[in-house]
Amino acid sequence: MSDELDAQPEVTPDHDLRRYEIRVGDATAGFTQFIDSGDQRIFFHTEIEERYAGRGLAGTLIRAALDDTVAHGKRIVPICPFVAGFLDKHDDFKGFVDAVTPAAQQVVIESQR
Ligand SMILES: CC(C)(COP(=O)(O)OP(=O)(O)OC[C@H]1O[C@@H](n2cnc3c(N)ncnc32)[C@H](O)[C@@H]1OP(=O)(O)O)[C@@H](O)C(=O)NCCC(=O)NCCS
Repeated sequence: MSDELDAQPEVTPDHDLRRYEIRVGDATAGFTQFIDSGDQRIFFHTEIEERYAGRGLAGTLIRAALDDTVAHGKRIVPICPFVAGFLDKHDDFKGFVDAVTPAAQQVVIESQR
């Protein structure tokens, strides 16, 4: 295994790109994308590069992204199936999650046009 894969992962927000990134060494291993709407942060897509898959990086990324979201007083809307699955498995964010609605889905669709 290379040193790079052993490096401690770091999660940082990129508000211009409206995503959180997870970096391993000098490389971006993946990201989760969001759109803000009022007090809601709508998470709609998460991706980890193939070579970094299955190492828990998506879980690390989502935990940090959700912690930051809550710290900024925002509500979580989990359109992304990985984020929804993470919230099903972890109770920590109970009380900070809003249901996925057609209106939230529309916000995402509009943002991609
Ligand atoms: C899904 C993806 C982000 C997982 O990344 P990863 O770093 O390998 O995931 P982790 O190692 O942190 O977590 C693995 C866990 O995620 C679960 N998982 C994998 N794919 C999932 C999905 N599409 N939806 C929900 N949960 C999923 C696994 O069952 C596993 O659960 P466990 O920890 O209870 O065993 C990655 O495989 C990927 O980029 N896939 C292509 C894009 C995609 O499908 N994104 C998700 C929907 S937007």
